[in-house]
Amino acid sequence: MDYFTTTGAARRLASSCILAGVYERGKLGAAAEDIDSATGGRLADLIRQSDISTSVGSCTVLPALPGVKAKRILVVGLGKRGEFGISQYRKAIAAGIAAIRHTRIHDITNFLTLEEVNGASPYYLARYAVETIGNALYRFDEMKSGRKKPSVPLKKIGFAVQKRGDARQVDLACQHADAIVNGMSLAKDLGNLPPNVCTPSYLGRTAVQLAKKHRNLQTRVLNETEIKRLGMHSFLSVTNGTSEPAKLIVMQYKGTTKQRPTVLVGKGITFDAGGISLKPGPGMDEMKYDMCGAASVMATMAVVATLKLPINLNVVIPTCENLPSSTATRPGDIVTSMAGLTIEVLNTDAEGRLILCDALTYSRRFKPETIIDVATLTGACVIALGHHRTAIMSNDDELADELRRGGIAADDRGWPMPIADEYDSELHSNFADFANIGKREGGAITAACFLGRFTKDMKWAHLDIAGTAWRTGGQKGSTGRPVPMLTEFLLRRAGALP
Ligand code: BES
Ligand code: MN
Ligand code: ZN
Repeated sequence: MDYFTTTGAARRLASSCILAGVYERGKLGAAAEDIDSATGGRLADLIRQSDISTSVGSCTVLPALPGVKAKRILVVGLGKRGEFGISQYRKAIAAGIAAIRHTRIHDITNFLTLEEVNGASPYYLARYAVETIGNALYRFDEMKSGRKKPSVPLKKIGFAVQKRGDARQVDLACQHADAIVNGMSLAKDLGNLPPNVCTPSYLGRTAVQLAKKHRNLQTRVLNETEIKRLGMHSFLSVTNGTSEPAKLIVMQYKGTTKQRPTVLVGKGITFDAGGISLKPGPGMDEMKYDMCGAASVMATMAVVATLKLPINLNVVIPTCENLPSSTATRPGDIVTSMAGLTIEVLNTDAEGRLILCDALTYSRRFKPETIIDVATLTGACVIALGHHRTAIMSNDDELADELRRGGIAADDRGWPMPIADEYDSELHSNFADFANIGKREGGAITAACFLGRFTKDMKWAHLDIAGTAWRTGGQKGSTGRPVPMLTEFLLRRAGALP
């Protein structure tokens, strides 16, 4: 995608399509105002006659008008002016793109960046726009037979800006957002691929390919012999039931000298049947998404490498399947983790924490400044927060807040949940150092407490993305979250924001 900015008036822009907004009660957005006066009040007339709807996301395409240089004007409703915020802004842009996606229009200029949107800066307005368009244009048809739909003709996105300084912000935003869109598409593809294609080995190959594409990026994929040598028996206990080989993927990006790295750890269960504690049948296909933590940290690495951010970042991905068989781990088995702590596996379906704890222990060798694990860890998280917020848990309140604020800025929100001794003591075991489950209630928190036992002297946060990583129902599909939140967090640390 190409991007450009313009400081000119809407009527004078030679573009194949201008995106202009109109509010309820006949109030015109900046571009609509200019076009209206250039055409002797045509827009106001059309709104009065109800030929143009002003409700959020309603689209009307007007062909060339005398007095306006652009070939067409895509008028989009913005709703009530007083209620126009980021979600309405994104909805309007998504609707505008949907309205032209089957046309041959190959460039569009967004004038909504001139509107007042909750005080958001031109940088963020451009970023939301590019990300929204990227989302709207994303398709996953790799697995469909027959002729593939031709790629979308949209090649160029313009942004109206008030002044030169804004143009610089918008250029930067487009660069960042373009990388985020590509990262999210990678994360979505990996999530949407079926579990017989997206195996641990496939994830490993994807990581190796990324390293080939970016200098500064190194990847190692460890096999089961090497994983065993490291003493990761908790991780390995999860893969016991499958003949598909487990992998440990380690990626290292060096964007600066002398700085302890940030480490991202992603849960990479490419299919979670539950093991011997087998899950119920309905909806089990969705457990192919149980590697979305892995996908999102790998994708965030791709964004960072693309933008060449001046930070050091490591990614660690334990990846395997969780299947039942005669060689599978049994409920009641006791395993020894890499840290030397013994774990009574009371439920083989609580497998995410069993692979993550060893990856967290492995990550110590990098002396992380901060370590963040990302996982579709618990159904309880979905019950607690639904599908809109990622759960943020941390042993450092400032880190939790940094992630929460990053999520707000990136419009990919999270919400804090506590980690505390009352929950932690539920992990008591009569036979091992502790068990892998607590009570059903507060299950997202006891899961975090389990991980917390392996991160005691590190600055650590845990993101439970079980509710946010994919959508179910008619819109079933991977969302690419929390790539925007993680990227925002790292952009801030890199001092790369305006
Ligand atoms: N991958 C699941 C968590 C999950 C479930 C995510 C449903 C999204 C939707 C995880 O491995 C799991 O099975 N967790 C169990 C833990 C329980 C046995 C303590 C759960 O949440 O039921
Ligand atoms: Mn499970
Ligand atoms: Zn799982």
